[in-house]
Amino acid sequence: MRNQRIYLDHQATTPLDPRVFEAMRPYFTEKFGNPASKSHPFGWEASEAVERAREQVAALVGAEPGEIVFTSGATEAVNLAIKGVAEMYAQRGRQIVTVATEHRAVLDTCRALELAGFGITRLGVGSDGLLSPDVLGAALTADTILACVMQANNEIGVIQDIAALGSICREQRVFLFVDGAQSVGKVPVDVNAQQIDLLAISGHKLYGPKGIGALYLRRRNPQVRLKAQLHGGGHERGRRSGTLPTPLIVGLGQACQLAGEELAGEAQRQLSLRERLVAGITAQLDGVRLNGHPNLRLAGNANLSFTGVDGAALLTRLTTIAVSSGSACTTEEAEPSHVLRALGLPDDLAAASIRFGLGRSTTAEEIETAIALVVRVVRELRGTPEGD
Ligand SMILES: Cc1ncc(COP(=O)(O)O)c(C=O)c1O
Repeated sequence: MRNQRIYLDHQATTPLDPRVFEAMRPYFTEKFGNPASKSHPFGWEASEAVERAREQVAALVGAEPGEIVFTSGATEAVNLAIKGVAEMYAQRGRQIVTVATEHRAVLDTCRALELAGFGITRLGVGSDGLLSPDVLGAALTADTILACVMQANNEIGVIQDIAALGSICREQRVFLFVDGAQSVGKVPVDVNAQQIDLLAISGHKLYGPKGIGALYLRRRNPQVRLKAQLHGGGHERGRRSGTLPTPLIVGLGQACQLAGEELAGEAQRQLSLRERLVAGITAQLDGVRLNGHPNLRLAGNANLSFTGVDGAALLTRLTTIAVSSGSACTTEEAEPSHVLRALGLPDDLAAASIRFGLGRSTTAEEIETAIALVVRVVRELRGTPEGD
C-alpha cells in the first residue's frame, strides 16, 4: 500500500497555490528589474507589478493601496507595528495592552518594549478563548497608546470580535493593532467596518510564498504614524527600507486576490470537513475536548485534547498525518502551550492536545483516514484497543 501522507497543519503554513506560482514566475527571470529603478522599463515593469499587488492586498481588507507596507512576513509586520507605534507615541503614553493568547511575535515584542520601560498589560481570556470587550475597556487608561489583539488564534482558531474591540479602542483614542496572520484570506476582514488601525498579514498562511507579508497602516481617521525599524534607501515611503522582492510581492497579491474570491465557499467546505472530523473522533472516543469556542473559530481548525494520553507519544504514532501539538511557529518548545494554559487547561491535558489544521487541499477521504488513525492510536495508548 502506498504510504500516503496527509497534511493537516495549515495553521503552520500552507502550500503555494500553483496559480500564485505561475503569476510569480516571470518576475524571477525575464522581469527582474528593481522596482525602485525609475529610469528604464525594467524598473517600470517591476514597479507596476508591485503596485498591482498592493491594490490586491488592500482590496482583500478594505484598505487603500497607499496604506499597505510590504514586509518580510507577519513577524516583521508585528515588530514594525508595535515598536514603531510605541516609539512614535512615547510622549503621549507608555502603556500597551495585549492578550495572553497572542502569538509569540506579539508577546515577545511587547516583552522587549517592557524591558525598554513601557508598561504592558496582558489580558486574560475566557475558557472559550474569547477576550471580553468589557475586559479590554476596563484595561485602557489615559496612558494607553496601543491595544494588540489577534483576530484568529493560530493554536485554537478562536476568532475575536474585532469590531466590538475596535469600537472600544476608537472611543478611548487607543490605536488597535490586529495580528491577522491566521485570519486574512480565511474570514472577512474590513479595516474600516472593524475599526482596525494596523493589521499584520502573512503570505505563507494564505497559499502565498514564504518570506513576504504586509502591514496595513491607517492613513486617516485617525492617521497612524510610526518610527521605521529598518533604515536605508527609504523604500515604502520611508516606512520600511530594503529592495522590494518583486516575485514574492506579486505572489502575495495573487494569493490575496484568490483568497478573496474563494473565501466564502472554501470556509463552508472546510467547516463541514472539520465538523465531520470532530464528530467522527468524539463518537468513538470518550475524554475528548475541543479547545476554544465551538463556533467562533476558523473553519479549518480543531484543537483537541485527549484525556489520559501523552501528547508527544500521540504525535509520534500519528506518522502518516502531519498535525501539530500546538504552535509550530514557536519551534521546539517543551513547555505546554501558553494558549491552552490561558484557557485554564491543566498541564497534562494541555500536553495531550493536537491541532488539526484543514486547508484548501483537504479532502473528505483524508478526514476519514485521519479519524480512523487517531481513534486507533488513542485507544492503543489508553490500553483500550476494543474501544472505550
Ligand atoms: C498568529 C500569527 N502571528 C504571526 C505569525 C508569524 O508569521 P510569519 O511566519 O509570516 O512571520 C504567525 C505564524 O507564524 C501566526 O500564526
